[in-house]
Amino acid sequence: MRATIEPASSTAGRSDAERTAAGEAARRRTFAVISHPDAGKSTLTEALALHARVIGQAGAVHGKAGRRGTVSDWMEMERDRGISITSAALQFSYRDAVVNLLDTPGHADFSEDTYRVLTAVDAAVMLIDAAKGLEAQTMKLFAVCRHRGIPIVTVVNKWDRPGKDALELMDEIAERTGLTPTPLTWPVGIAGDFRGVLDRRDGTFRRFTRTAGGATIAPEELLSAADAAAQEGANWEQAVEESELLAETGAEHDQELFLSGITTPVLFASAVSNFGVGALLDSLVDLAPPPSGREDVGGAVRSLDEPFSAFVFKVQSGMDAAHRDRLAYIRICTGVFERGMVVTHAATGRPFTTKYAQHVFGRERESVELAYPGDVVGLVNANALGVGDTLYAEKPVTYPPLTTFAPEHFAVARSKETAKHKQFRKGIEQLDSEGVVQVLRSDRWGDQAPVLAVVGPMQFEVASHRMEHEFNAPIALERLPYSLALRTDAGAVPQVSASGGAEVLQRDNGDLLAVFTDKWALRMLQQRHPSLNLEPLVAAQLA
Ligand code: G4P
Repeated sequence: MRATIEPASSTAGRSDAERTAAGEAARRRTFAVISHPDAGKSTLTEALALHARVIGQAGAVHGKAGRRGTVSDWMEMERDRGISITSAALQFSYRDAVVNLLDTPGHADFSEDTYRVLTAVDAAVMLIDAAKGLEAQTMKLFAVCRHRGIPIVTVVNKWDRPGKDALELMDEIAERTGLTPTPLTWPVGIAGDFRGVLDRRDGTFRRFTRTAGGATIAPEELLSAADAAAQEGANWEQAVEESELLAETGAEHDQELFLSGITTPVLFASAVSNFGVGALLDSLVDLAPPPSGREDVGGAVRSLDEPFSAFVFKVQSGMDAAHRDRLAYIRICTGVFERGMVVTHAATGRPFTTKYAQHVFGRERESVELAYPGDVVGLVNANALGVGDTLYAEKPVTYPPLTTFAPEHFAVARSKETAKHKQFRKGIEQLDSEGVVQVLRSDRWGDQAPVLAVVGPMQFEVASHRMEHEFNAPIALERLPYSLALRTDAGAVPQVSASGGAEVLQRDNGDLLAVFTDKWALRMLQQRHPSLNLEPLVAAQLA
C-alpha cells in the first residue's frame, strides 16, 4: 500500500487571512526521535502517522528494507544495507496542533546528518528498548540534545516483551543521562506481561489490548482506579505502590524543569501494538515547546512575526534516479512561507525563487503552498543552497552556520578515469556543499586529488556510490592514516608539516585543519612547540 500523506496545513480549517506566523507557530510541535537502531523508531513513526490517521494501515509510511511498503529507503545503497541515510519530515494534524516529525538517519556513521536534523527541532523523543535500556547511539544523540538544550520526552518501548524492571530503568536514565525521569504513565504488569498503564496524572487505568500485528489502532480501554483494582489485582496494587514511591522521590512532572532540560517525562509503550502512541502525541502537544525565535549570527533574535526567514539543515540529491534533482530542506524560523515567493540567499545576496516547494517523506511528495515557523519545506532544484545557509525575505538576517564535526577518517579521492575530470570536480563540489563528506585540499596531493574527511566510514561508501552512479565519475579512495583533526592557523603550518604523522589540510573557506595519525603525534608536536594554535573541533562523540 502506498502512503497518502495529507499535509496538515491543507486541513487546518483556517482561512489564510486568519493565520499569523506567531499564531500558527504556537500550534506547531517539531521534533525528532532519537534511539539506537532496532529500538523501534520506524515502528513508532508508523504508529504516530497511523494515529494521526495519515495512513490507513501501519507499514505504509516508513520502514526498513524488505518490509512491506518501504518508501523511505529509496537509495539503492540504503536498500542493500538496510539503513536509512536520507531524512525528511512527516507533517500531520493532531487535535488542534500541527506535528512535524523529522526523520533521522539510523546509522551512527551519519551522526553529523543527525546532528543537523536536531538543529531543526524544538524537542526530541528518546526511544528506549525496555530490554536493553540506554544504548550507545541513544547516549550520543542524547548528548547532542543536551548540548542544544532540547527538552526530551522518554518512551520506554517494547513493554509487551520481557525486559528490565521499570524502577531499574528509571535509575538507569537518572544515572546515565543526569535527567530526572518523571513518569507520566506507569506500567501495570512487568515487561512481557503488559496489562496496561496507570495514568499518574489522573489515577486511571489504560488497558492494553493487542491487535493483530499492530496493523490498526489498538483500542485503549479506559478504566477507573476501582475497576482496575478489581480486575487487575496484585499488578494494579504494585503499580500504585511504585507510583507513590516515585511521588515521594519527587518524580513528578514540572513543566519548567522539563523545558530547561532537567527532567524528562516518561511513557511506557508498545509501538508495534500502537499502545501508548496516543499518550505520546498528547504529551507532545501538551508539553513540548512550540517554535521560538532563533538567534542570528549577531546574537539577536528575530521574532516569529517578522518576515520569512529559514535555514537549510539538509541538502539531498539523487533521491529519485529519474529526476536527479537536488532538494534543500529548510526549517522555517520566522514569518509565513508562500510557494513562489522570491527570497534572498544570505550567503550570496542572490534572489531565490521558491517555485517548487514540497513536503517530503519517503517517496511521497506534496506541493506546499503555505508554511509557518517550525515547518520543514523541501525546495526543489536548490542548486545554490548549501547546508547551514540562510534564506530571508525583506529584512536581512543570517543564522549561524551549522557546526562541522571533527572528522576521524580521511581518504585521498582520485578520478578513476582521467577523461572525466569535469564530472569528478562537479561531483566532489556537490558532495561538499551537501555535507556528505568534508572536502579538504592538501599540498601533498594537489588539486586533482582532494582529501575526503568523514565522521563515519560509511560516508565514504555513500560518496563513492554517488560519484559513480550520479556523477558518472567513479573514484578510487586511498585511506590516509589520520584519525584526529584540530583547527589551526597559517602560523602553525611549517611546524605541523615538518612533524611526523601530521599535515595541514585546507577547507574551501580557507579554514586550516591540522590532522594527526593519533594523539601521540599531536602530543609530540605540542611538546616541541607548546605555543602553536591548535583548537579542538566539536567532537563526533558529542553526537
Ligand atoms: P528502528 O527503526 O529503531 O531500527 O527499529 P524498528 O522500528 O525497525 O524495530 C526493530 C524491531 O523491533 C522490529 O522487529 C519491530 O517489529 C520490533 N518492535 C518495534 N516496536 C516493538 C514493540 O513495541 N514490541 C515488540 N515486541 N517489538 C517491537 P524485526 O523483527 O526486526 O522486524 P519486523 O520483521 O517485525 O518488521
